[in-house]
Amino acid sequence: MSDTVLEKDMSAYWDRAGKVWVEQQALLDRLYAPIAKAVVDRADLRAGERVLDVGCGAGATTFEAAWRVGPQGQAVGADISGALVELARRRAGEAGLEGVDFVLADAQTHAFAPRFDAVVSRFGVMFFPDPVAAFANLRRAVTPGGRLVFASWRGPEDNAISLVPLQAAAPFLPAVPAFEKDAPGRFGLADPDRTRTILEAAGWHDVRIDRLDDPTPVSFDELLTMSLRVGPLNPALANQDETVREKVREAVTRALEPHVKDGVAHMNSACWLVSAEG
Ligand SMILES: C[S@@+](CC[C@H](N)C(=O)[O-])C[C@H]1O[C@@H](n2cnc3c(N)ncnc32)[C@H](O)[C@@H]1O
Repeated sequence: MSDTVLEKDMSAYWDRAGKVWVEQQALLDRLYAPIAKAVVDRADLRAGERVLDVGCGAGATTFEAAWRVGPQGQAVGADISGALVELARRRAGEAGLEGVDFVLADAQTHAFAPRFDAVVSRFGVMFFPDPVAAFANLRRAVTPGGRLVFASWRGPEDNAISLVPLQAAAPFLPAVPAFEKDAPGRFGLADPDRTRTILEAAGWHDVRIDRLDDPTPVSFDELLTMSLRVGPLNPALANQDETVREKVREAVTRALEPHVKDGVAHMNSACWLVSAEG
């Protein structure tokens, strides 16, 4: 079993995974808020600018960007998941945010109007089957000198806590999801040398890649939710019967207990903060 997203499956994969992100939007927004802020800070957005948020999900980074560019600017979120675009639009309407728009689009191929001052993304650009073509498409969306800033995951070795649930579940499942190096998926841009090569081949320059760590505290319940609902165990458990699911839940609970002190765990998000110019 693989955690890799195959091209032919991409829309279908995100149709399903997107629903989990919809369900867990409040938790994910809290957990990853510092990452959205780090991305938007690095993009150095100014009032009146136009910014495109790629793989925007429920829109947290788009909203963060919208505050920076103000009502005279424009923040556009693009995502391949209909459920997430719908939620993002609803949230923008409820917040009464001006200058915000969301499009249902495959960022690899969508013909974005070439007018953006910056392209940003929090965890939305690691899933492209042809990353050079995809980042070249995104470069065409920026005006000369436009900025690209995104956060992507470092490898599973740096995100150890994401491996604990998989190892605990392994004895009860026919196969556990495997993270394929350099393949489209959450760790698709984990290798910084490869990321630099991809971006330069796509026409971006002045590539800068820094480590970004965020040990946001989470409750034990939140840690379990991240492990069983949001992480790669979710699809692996989807076709299992209730007995297996219960055994996995118990094993994962036991395995995570040592990572929790006084009801709180620190789930480090070990990322890369990547920036470049078009
Ligand atoms: C890990 S989620 C991150 C969502 C959001 N940026 C956040 O941080 O909350 C990845 C997002 O990328 C979107 N995505 C994946 N491939 C895409 C593509 N080719 N074009 C547009 N969006 C894509 C998914 O639908 C999903 O919403």
